[in-house]
Amino acid sequence: MNKIYLDQASTSFPKAPSVADTVYRYLSDSPVNVSRGSYEAAYSVEEKIFETREQLRRLFHFTSGKSKNVIFTPNITTSLNILLKGLLKPGDHILVSSMEHNAVMRPLVQLQKHGISFDRIPCAPDGSLLLDQADALIKPSTRLLVCLHGSNVCGTLMPVEQIGEFCQKYHLFFILDTAQTAGSIPIDMEKLHLSALAFTGHKGLRGPQGTGGFLIRNELIPEITPLISGGTGSISHTEEVPDFLPDRFEPGTPNIPGILGLHAALSDLEQTSMKETFRHELKLTEIFIEKILDADPDGKHIRIIGKRDLENRCPVVSVQTPEIDMALAAYELDSTYGIMTRVGLHCAPSAHKTLGTYPAGTIRFSFGPENTQSEIEQAVEALFRITGTRQIEGDFTHGI
Ligand SMILES: Cc1ncc(COP(=O)(O)O)c(C=O)c1O
Repeated sequence: MNKIYLDQASTSFPKAPSVADTVYRYLSDSPVNVSRGSYEAAYSVEEKIFETREQLRRLFHFTSGKSKNVIFTPNITTSLNILLKGLLKPGDHILVSSMEHNAVMRPLVQLQKHGISFDRIPCAPDGSLLLDQADALIKPSTRLLVCLHGSNVCGTLMPVEQIGEFCQKYHLFFILDTAQTAGSIPIDMEKLHLSALAFTGHKGLRGPQGTGGFLIRNELIPEITPLISGGTGSISHTEEVPDFLPDRFEPGTPNIPGILGLHAALSDLEQTSMKETFRHELKLTEIFIEKILDADPDGKHIRIIGKRDLENRCPVVSVQTPEIDMALAAYELDSTYGIMTRVGLHCAPSAHKTLGTYPAGTIRFSFGPENTQSEIEQAVEALFRITGTRQIEGDFTHGI
């Protein structure tokens, strides 16, 4: 049975073409450390890491920042923890959307126990932000707005340009979680007035797991107390945390094979048209949604959650199957038809409460650059079979 991978929102597969080979070559040829050894091989790895920072700076159009303003971490979850826990002090108030992932919500709920408060800006039942309700939530102590760019549950995009203007108006720091959009949708640090942009390397950027980071504007740096401290290979005569970047936020040996793999993925990305790739992914999204709506407009067997159009969305679609247990449906999708999806709450209970799908959750289908129309059609047909939406003649599993 051929497998069809439709869990791209979780992590991308396949990775960008040159990633695996790059990681393999580093680990097998010369797996040396950085910022520590005084020999050529170490300098050459350091150069590649520098280049990766530059690639990210270019990708996110961070023209006012330097390469050292690009910090590497193991993933976006760590990035958000460093930023939120380093920045917020007792008495601070912050704003989030009601669609956030637990990578934002769990640190905030932890911080709540230390005198930090937050409010959720409401979203419509399709996940669209109701930004006009945010003014009423502003307090004198509001310092920050942090939100995701694209929903990992239903694909709805946040109106980031308007949010940037809102943050300017109220002099708030603005931190963006780009987990579902980096590498798929152009993001401009300057145009959005971002204070910091958090990214993860293994989703749309198509790099290895264990890579991520954040880009940080100079104004925000002194506000952030480093969450983790340790050796950096620099100013080793002192036990104080360095006050310069990137060392201030990068103690310990980094994930060098991962960062080199990310470098390869970003080089591949630079050779492709992000616009074309995104157009392809949205086309797949459209086919998926239309086929379901054509066969089952009332959502009797398959209910599409959130937006049904292609405006302001990324290629993530959630469905519920009212007549069959969703875990069972997802299991059947994989075991009988080879279709890999994700079922449940997707680490985003707040989003599901907004969408009206809490606590049952959804089955999530998410599409990437190398998924094909035929794969999407097979996924829909399999879903039809499992849910009894439409009977299909013949031994359908054969074709998969
Ligand atoms: C919107 C959003 N934020 C944060 C994360 C966390 O990403 P990571 O596990 O790479 O830290 C995810 C992962 O699914 C996500 O979708």
